[in-house]
Amino acid sequence: MSQPCAIEIAPDTHWIGALDPGLREFDIILRTANGTTYNAYCVRGSEGVAVIDTVKASHAGEFFARLESVCCYDEITTIVLNHLEPDHTGALPELMRRAPQAKLYISGKAQLMLKALVKHDDLTYTIVNTGDFIELGGRTLHFLNTPFLHWPDTQCTWLEQQGILFSGDVFGCHFCDARLFNDQVGDFRFSFEYYYAHIMRPFREHVLDALNLIEPLPLKLLAPAHGPVLRDAPKSYVQRYRQLASPLLHSGTNNKSLLVFYISSYGNTQRMAEAVREGAETLHGVRVSLYDLQSGGDLPFVDLIEEADGLAFGSPTINGDAVKPLWDLLSSLAVIKVRDKLGAAFGSYGWSGEAVNMIEDRLRGLKLRVPVKGVRARLIPTEAELAACHDLGRQLAQHLSGCVERKIISMSELLSSSHA
Ligand code: FEO
Repeated sequence: MSQPCAIEIAPDTHWIGALDPGLREFDIILRTANGTTYNAYCVRGSEGVAVIDTVKASHAGEFFARLESVCCYDEITTIVLNHLEPDHTGALPELMRRAPQAKLYISGKAQLMLKALVKHDDLTYTIVNTGDFIELGGRTLHFLNTPFLHWPDTQCTWLEQQGILFSGDVFGCHFCDARLFNDQVGDFRFSFEYYYAHIMRPFREHVLDALNLIEPLPLKLLAPAHGPVLRDAPKSYVQRYRQLASPLLHSGTNNKSLLVFYISSYGNTQRMAEAVREGAETLHGVRVSLYDLQSGGDLPFVDLIEEADGLAFGSPTINGDAVKPLWDLLSSLAVIKVRDKLGAAFGSYGWSGEAVNMIEDRLRGLKLRVPVKGVRARLIPTEAELAACHDLGRQLAQHLSGCVERKIISMSELLSSSHA
């Protein structure tokens, strides 16, 4: 059987990655119906050769065979690591052993991970940032610091003379097709969108920062770390990322938004939800929306939650727990950024009423702020309990609009309570 060979993507620039067509699940959470590729690249200049990223350890043999088809190990002067997750660094220790003279270039945030991967006492490397570049002789590699796409360490590398962006996971997808180029492989659009939705979406603010660096580049080819090499209309993928990372719809106002979700067996939690909404609506400048989780799937709500400022969740307690549709929605929030949004909980119960505390704990676990204690009501909420829900909504709206009532603490009350 013949050895795998490198594939030229531009003069003196080759794809030296590996194909993994049988993979059906990536990192446990991603389905990969078409397998994936681990893309690595080799750039030759008159004064040196650079290897950009490596592959998963299980596919190192294929990577080294392709690399050897275009260069000798003693020619390698430079190893660039755009991202240190093991699917791109599995072959790194062996590459360093075969090309010990090569210098390593990584982002500042990659240091800890590199030291964990390569346990050499005399490990040396160079930290690079946006604005830094290295010369290979007629080939210049510029570095773009693009953190959190999707790990803190991620960066992109721009090959100036060829107009190629080696983008790491950004613009990638899990789609294996040996024809490699986007104008030759099968239709992979679903995979591109799926990858963005599950890998990049939680970091969309960082995506927008990265796009501000990438969009001005005279781009001729996008070379991501997974999936097809994007040589046909590469800018269209950049534009698609801009669309995906931008807010879905213009709300039409400068209002803050509060979403109140509930699910209700006998109408009791629903009544509480309506009271929360009414309380929130007493303040101007907060747009309040009420949704029954009984009738909706998670996806449209996830989209809404991504844009919202505040979230209140109402669930009855059944068998000592909040109910499944509520947990389903909360568990689907891992794909968006919810940190620092405002959160609250409420609900009716029969015996023990654990749901409200459990929801609040989950919201705190997701790094939401939960400044107002939730409201519980045994079975049918009393007027006082509905008033408490009304007050919960009003307080949430106050927090959202920045007009929280200041609590004046009386020193005499404080002293008397501390002596009680
Ligand atoms: Fe493809 Fe984040 O590794």
